[in-house]
Amino acid sequence: MTEQQAAPRLAVLGAGVMGVSITTLALGRGVPVVLVETDPARRARIRARVEHELRTAQLMGVRPDGPPGELTVTAAAADCQGADAVIEAVTEDAEVKAKALAEIDQLTGPDAVLVTNTSSIPVDELADRISRPEKLVGVHFMNPSYLIGTVEVIHGPRTGRPALDGVARLLGALGRKGVHVADGPGFVTSRLLHRMINDAARIVESGQATAEDVDILMQDCLGHRTGPLRTADLIGLDNLVDSLWVLHRRTGDEGCRPCELLLRKVRDGEHGRKSGRGFYTYTAGGWT
Ligand SMILES: NC(=O)c1ccc[n+]([C@@H]2O[C@H](COP(=O)([O-])OP(=O)(O)OC[C@H]3O[C@@H](n4cnc5c(N)ncnc54)[C@H](O)[C@@H]3O)[C@@H](O)[C@H]2O)c1
Repeated sequence: MTEQQAAPRLAVLGAGVMGVSITTLALGRGVPVVLVETDPARRARIRARVEHELRTAQLMGVRPDGPPGELTVTAAAADCQGADAVIEAVTEDAEVKAKALAEIDQLTGPDAVLVTNTSSIPVDELADRISRPEKLVGVHFMNPSYLIGTVEVIHGPRTGRPALDGVARLLGALGRKGVHVADGPGFVTSRLLHRMINDAARIVESGQATAEDVDILMQDCLGHRTGPLRTADLIGLDNLVDSLWVLHRRTGDEGCRPCELLLRKVRDGEHGRKSGRGFYTYTAGGWT
């Protein structure tokens, strides 16, 4: 940020994997954040998790020098009043998101930008539930947001130019590059990635190869950065299954029907890195 540009007043809804990741990115760039989380147990752990992520970003050398932005943790969506931009990163459930966005729509002014970080729900479907659909833009931040410099920006058919300009200002303050795509279930990244992860899990389920071997082959032979199943653990298997259902129901693509192994892991509480166990076991982590 230059001295002339004031930091945007940013609010983030949801302090799960992505809410914390996006908040860390913003704070690390000196942008203050109001973080709204409805679950009291999660709320109690937010500051420790954000501090841990800020230290990790610092150690990785991906955080610019300078004091972090101020963090306000709250249970009240009303504390988003006055924000220039609100990013919703709540559970991947169309009804939960629509309710959260409708509430924020009422609380914020006509110039505020509403951003959905959904992985798979079409932006225009969510825009239906707010009074000013032109305010809503999809910005698909990846995890960890402080490490991955590119985001997918999704234009709904009703997204307005002022909202896109607001997103450009926000991404400028966060030092991220946006690649703009049209709306549709899963946009580009989840439409490709989630189906591929589901296929990788099916291979493990069939006994053809272990998770480790699938990941090694995808990394060493095909240049995938982390391997699909380690990526699945990083995303969170519960979120992955929710997104696959969204894709399956809206496209009819049977390749997106979550495989039995994924469903079983979610039922057993093996949600990936955040629960300490998924396709792999983690000694650090396990915060849910
Ligand atoms: N996990 C990833 O790697 C990833 C990547 C890109 C996008 N996304 C998307 O980001 C969103 C969040 O995903 P996640 O993995 O962080 O989910 P998560 O399940 O880890 O966290 C969601 C959080 O939202 C909270 N919440 C629910 N309703 C709320 C409300 N009305 N107000 C405030 N908080 C509320 C929940 O208590 C929970 O803490 C989803 O739409 C997901 O598809 C996830």
